[in-house]
Amino acid sequence: MRLQSLLSLVTLPGAAVAGDAFQSRCSSFQDQINIHNVTVRSVEYVAAGQNVSQAEVAPVCKSSLQASIDFCRVTMNISTSDRSHLWAEAWLPRNYTGRFVSTGNGGLAGCVQETDLNFAATYGFATVGTNGGHDGDTAEPFFNNPEVLADFAYRSVHAGAVVGKELTRLFYPEGFNYSYYLGCSTGGRQGYQQVQRFPDDYDGVVAGSAAMNFVNLINWGAFLYEATGNVDDPGYITSDLWAVIHDEIVRQCDPVDGAIDGIIEDPDFCAPVLETLICDSTTKNASSCLTGLQAARATRALSDFYGPDGKLYYPRLNYGAEADSAGVYFTGSMYSRTEEWYRYVVYNDSTWNSSQWTLDSAKKAFDQNPFNIEAFDPNITTFRDRGSKLLSYHGTQDPIISSTDSKLYYRRVANALNARPSELDDFYRLFQISGMGHCGDGDGASYIGQGAGTYTSKAPRINLLHTIVEWVEQGKAPEYMPGNKLDASGNIEYMRKHCRYPKHNIHRGAGNYTDPNSWTCVG
Ligand SMILES: *[C@@H]1O[C@H](CO)[C@@H](O)[C@H](O)[C@H]1NC(C)=O
Ligand SMILES: *[C@@H]1O[C@H](CO)[C@@H](O)[C@H](O)[C@H]1NC(C)=O
Ligand SMILES: *[C@@H]1O[C@H](CO)[C@@H](O)[C@H](O)[C@H]1NC(C)=O
Ligand SMILES: *[C@@H]1O[C@H](CO)[C@@H](O)[C@H](O)[C@H]1NC(C)=O
Ligand SMILES: *[C@@H]1O[C@H](CO)[C@@H](O)[C@H](O)[C@H]1NC(C)=O
Ligand SMILES: *[C@@H]1O[C@H](CO)[C@@H](O)[C@H](O)[C@H]1NC(C)=O
Ligand SMILES: *[C@@H]1O[C@H](CO)[C@@H](O)[C@H](O)[C@H]1NC(C)=O
Ligand SMILES: *[C@@H]1O[C@H](CO)[C@@H](O)[C@H](O)[C@H]1NC(C)=O
Ligand SMILES: *[C@@H]1O[C@H](CO)[C@@H](O)[C@H](O)[C@H]1NC(C)=O
Ligand SMILES: *[C@@H]1O[C@H](CO)[C@@H](O)[C@H](O)[C@H]1NC(C)=O
Repeated sequence: MRLQSLLSLVTLPGAAVAGDAFQSRCSSFQDQINIHNVTVRSVEYVAAGQNVSQAEVAPVCKSSLQASIDFCRVTMNISTSDRSHLWAEAWLPRNYTGRFVSTGNGGLAGCVQETDLNFAATYGFATVGTNGGHDGDTAEPFFNNPEVLADFAYRSVHAGAVVGKELTRLFYPEGFNYSYYLGCSTGGRQGYQQVQRFPDDYDGVVAGSAAMNFVNLINWGAFLYEATGNVDDPGYITSDLWAVIHDEIVRQCDPVDGAIDGIIEDPDFCAPVLETLICDSTTKNASSCLTGLQAARATRALSDFYGPDGKLYYPRLNYGAEADSAGVYFTGSMYSRTEEWYRYVVYNDSTWNSSQWTLDSAKKAFDQNPFNIEAFDPNITTFRDRGSKLLSYHGTQDPIISSTDSKLYYRRVANALNARPSELDDFYRLFQISGMGHCGDGDGASYIGQGAGTYTSKAPRINLLHTIVEWVEQGKAPEYMPGNKLDASGNIEYMRKHCRYPKHNIHRGAGNYTDPNSWTCVG
């Protein structure tokens, strides 16, 4: 099977002809499915190039997507309690390579990420995904229903994997030899959650830009609102001014890595001073400078967040991400997912609103940590001891989740396992993707191939499914993570070799920054 067949992207010959064995196996599959807690909604053959039907999909989740490959699609309900169930899909490709993969969600979950299913199935994986237990990116379904919250916290991905594996064995007589997980953001948290809680589920886990330390990530949204205030506050900073602050932070921090390329390789090696932006007495254009109060507020917003108990709740925002965070956290109102979490989960009061927030609310939320949703447990010995691999990455320009939080977890694991990085390397590697935003985008070489959004067919081997398969099945661990920067027309501008933590990239002076070999991982 092997990597060649895994990675040879296939162009399919239109719809299959009548009498096609795969297609008829798909047509008769529904009758064979008799799995506990599973109610099949539909089984249909989908040919490459066809639009994926949205008839069975909840209105809030409908999307438009063209299949890249021929596959058999199973949609179903999976019951998880007498008050909760999942909506799930399995995509079983014609060109199957003997591997299973489970996919995750985003935000407050609530939709099967069909683009991820399409991506993985294209590489021959039997792929499953669920909606995380509710439809739509909102916390309201958790109100008065802890079972729905349990699905979101930890249960949905596991239940989806149990069912997905059973379907895979049922559909393909040869079964599967390896099982994987792929997810980013909430999907990243779900990946770590499975590693911690269901360590036997996967041989390889790809977890990116993880929303772990979840409750404090939620709390941090309130801290950032408190730090930056309402639009009519005297020290409020508009998004235009955040763009000015961003330019100044890049001016101060970009050269630290040895190359002035607009990219801050590792924001933890800089301590920008924003008072340099305070308007001087001759300033004519106040839209390009700050008041003293604004400089203080911006500095606070870019500081670590401590709870009322003196504990570090959440590490500061990535320097370099501030301009992109303006539309998320500095809008003059509390981040909606944060407000909803307090309303529907912490206070269980549909009339609660952000004006009632105090620092003690953060502690209340932290202490509550329902179903251990935070996914921050560093004891992952069972996962290590069974030989599974955890491949993790985080963009250093992530405006929604601090990449420092992924480093924090890495260090907690090192502490808990009493293992230095060279030993953790055997099974757990964390890569910092400089200039990558939240799961993609950003100003840097962020095309690392973890999904349709960061994959370019112009560099087909830069594909994290390929990377994790090589590591798990051939023992070839990734030394660095290659990423491409694309220009506006989708051509590759340059490639960079992103370092694995705790190393970070330094430009050695010889050669252009566009030359990947002019960089060295140090530390
Ligand atoms: C399946 O993959 C092989 C190469 O791995 C390719 O030759 C073949 O055309 C593909 N078939 C279909 C139906 O996709
Ligand atoms: C699946 O669940 C939905 C609610 O989300 C329900 O409307 C539908 O009837 C269920 N379908 C089956 C086949 O149980
Ligand atoms: C498939 O979807 C696209 C847009 O999403 C639409 O333009 C096209 O008409 C659809 N094709 C079919 C056969 O429905
Ligand atoms: C089936 O659902 C029930 C709750 O409705 C749950 O207790 C049980 O563990 C589930 N069984 C399987 C095999 O998932
Ligand atoms: C699983 O591995 C065995 C032994 O290498 C091999 O014979 C078999 O074909 C593999 N099965 C699949 C589904 O790849
Ligand atoms: C003021 O500064 C801002 C931000 O640098 C710039 O966009 C704008 O054009 C300037 N206005 C004038 C009148 O110079
Ligand atoms: C939430 O409040 C409702 C009343 O509004 C109550 O019935 C319910 O038991 C509460 N749930 C929890 C988990 O406290
Ligand atoms: C928030 O709640 C307070 C009362 O606790 C109320 O006075 C205020 O109008 C509410 N704000 C919004 C935006 O609903
Ligand atoms: C870590 O987990 C393993 C396996 O569950 C357990 O045996 C061990 O006691 C745990 N270690 C700590 C420090 O809790
Ligand atoms: C490095 O490459 C960039 C992009 O091709 C180019 O604009 C720049 O002039 C080069 N710098 C040097 C010092 O060669």
